[in-house]
Amino acid sequence: MTKICAAVLIFFTLELLWNQASGIKWLALARMSSVATIKEDKECNVLDGLVKKQKKICKKHVEMMGAVRKGAIEAIHECQFQFRNRRWNCSTVDASTIFGNVLHQGSREASFVHAISSAGVAHPVTRACSSGTMSECGCDRTVRGRSPAGFEWAGCSDNIAFGTAFSRTFVDARERVRKDREGSSSRVLMNLHNNEAGRKIIEENMLTQCKCHGVSGSCELKTCWRAMPSFRKIGYMLKEKFDGACEVQQKKAGSRSVLVPRSTQYKPHSSTDLVYLVASPDFCERDPKTGALGTHGRRCNKTSKAIDGCELMCCGRGYVTKKRVIIERCHCKFHWCCYVKCQNCKREIEEHTCL
Ligand SMILES: *[C@@H]1O[C@H](CO)[C@@H](O)[C@H](O)[C@H]1NC(C)=O
Ligand SMILES: *[C@@H]1O[C@H](CO)[C@@H](O)[C@H](O)[C@H]1NC(C)=O
Repeated sequence: MTKICAAVLIFFTLELLWNQASGIKWLALARMSSVATIKEDKECNVLDGLVKKQKKICKKHVEMMGAVRKGAIEAIHECQFQFRNRRWNCSTVDASTIFGNVLHQGSREASFVHAISSAGVAHPVTRACSSGTMSECGCDRTVRGRSPAGFEWAGCSDNIAFGTAFSRTFVDARERVRKDREGSSSRVLMNLHNNEAGRKIIEENMLTQCKCHGVSGSCELKTCWRAMPSFRKIGYMLKEKFDGACEVQQKKAGSRSVLVPRSTQYKPHSSTDLVYLVASPDFCERDPKTGALGTHGRRCNKTSKAIDGCELMCCGRGYVTKKRVIIERCHCKFHWCCYVKCQNCKREIEEHTCL
């Protein structure tokens, strides 16, 4: 009897660890080349990193899976761009868990990855709808009629409502399962909040794009439509939210659990703010436990006082400087008509890397 209990206990502990370790496992789709060409729903079963609910969604919306995969790739790519000059550079550490252990803790970094990933699904799914090739969605037809500003709503407005709804179902699936099983742990609440924040950022920053009609662009008639900001813009906005992220803790409010600022000095976070539970490690040294790779060998900027500067990036260990000769185009001349002729010039540059 006790043996069975022990076995069951070990099984549940392992499963719990697995669930936490796996973080945003569906991002593993980024590594596959086959998703874009999934034609049959039974192929959903063999996709890496999906929980049962996500496999179900995959089967029901096979045609969307190419967009979901694109979302995973764009999210990782954007994260690496936004964090290229920081100690944690959004490196995808090992093959099985895309961000390794960095997502274990409810850190600021984890909050960003969750937000950019859920935005990462909403964005290309919405794009796919606008492309007119999807059977289950198209442009937003509710944007119609004459606006108070005197233009006509026309053309294809991005269907962000569909994109965010799809992202909510697909991306939040793991957390919803955990919530049903474990109740609202602070980590589940944190993930759900940050997932939603990523989607909200797109919704709140929809653009109005217009076109003029009439003789020689006189704009007698102006037609406009709603469009999403570029994913790069969303990346910048979420990075700003990362910089101002709010440290929170769980509190009971009646029968519900909510996240509130850890310090009473701060005002409550808004629905687009990122929230985190634990302070980040300093990421200076390699540490498998936190998923930090360390900053040995990283490039740094000798003159910068910010986090990309050698002092902070190298954590005070110092750096080495190497001189390198680069060849670049120079003394370019425009010749009539029409070509540009350049010379090759050699220039010596200094590169600094952390010890
Ligand atoms: C990120 O940092 C790691 C080590 O800290 C390094 O190996 C890797 O090349 C870096 N990635 C980028 C894109 O700079
Ligand atoms: C290094 O930092 C300085 C000051 O912030 C900046 O002006 C310069 O462009 C940076 N250099 C590189 C190569 O990024």
